[in-house]
Amino acid sequence: KNIVIFASGTGSNAENIIQYFKNNTSKSVVAVFSNNSNAKVLEKANNLNVHTVSFNKDELYGDFVLSKLIELKPDLIVLAGFLLKFPEHIIAAFPNKIINIHPALLPNYGGKGMYGKHVHQAVLDNKETETGITIHFVNEQYDEGRIILQEKTSISDCTTSEEVATKVHELEHRFFPQVIDQLLTRNL
Ligand code: GRF
Repeated sequence: KNIVIFASGTGSNAENIIQYFKNNTSKSVVAVFSNNSNAKVLEKANNLNVHTVSFNKDELYGDFVLSKLIELKPDLIVLAGFLLKFPEHIIAAFPNKIINIHPALLPNYGGKGMYGKHVHQAVLDNKETETGITIHFVNEQYDEGRIILQEKTSISDCTTSEEVATKVHELEHRFFPQVIDQLLTRNL
């Protein structure tokens, strides 16, 4: 089973997922795609001997990225900190095979721009006592695909967005690989 990951930045989730499947004989990460040729995630993938593809917006919303994906025949496309809206023509080409992780409890704190520390600051500003992660299928509406898993964490003892981010990253790193593994095992 082939996994392809899309990421825009640090890539701690991508690295974690690659490591998780490193010794798996039936599932592996075959490529990491990024819209940012300087993204740390590309370095991480190279260090782990995973093929990387970087692209610009024209290539994403045009034919280049889709043609690369068709070559790789992914069984699952994983958005892990990918900050652009996923193109509809790629969603149409891989129905129910694209998942995303959102660092909050959708439908709250969803939508464009609610990524990275902004979402964590918003959660703090609203005096939430908990936050969490949402892993969901990607469809044409931003952050509105069928929810696969949600996990919560208390943040009543957090005062900065960095503290919240740390707690959310712990959940992401603990649950995302398992969800991917189960989806590929159950052929969902
Ligand atoms: C994660 O918090 C993820 O939920 C969000 O962007 C962040 C990516 O972190 N979409 P990393 O690049 O995987 O470290």
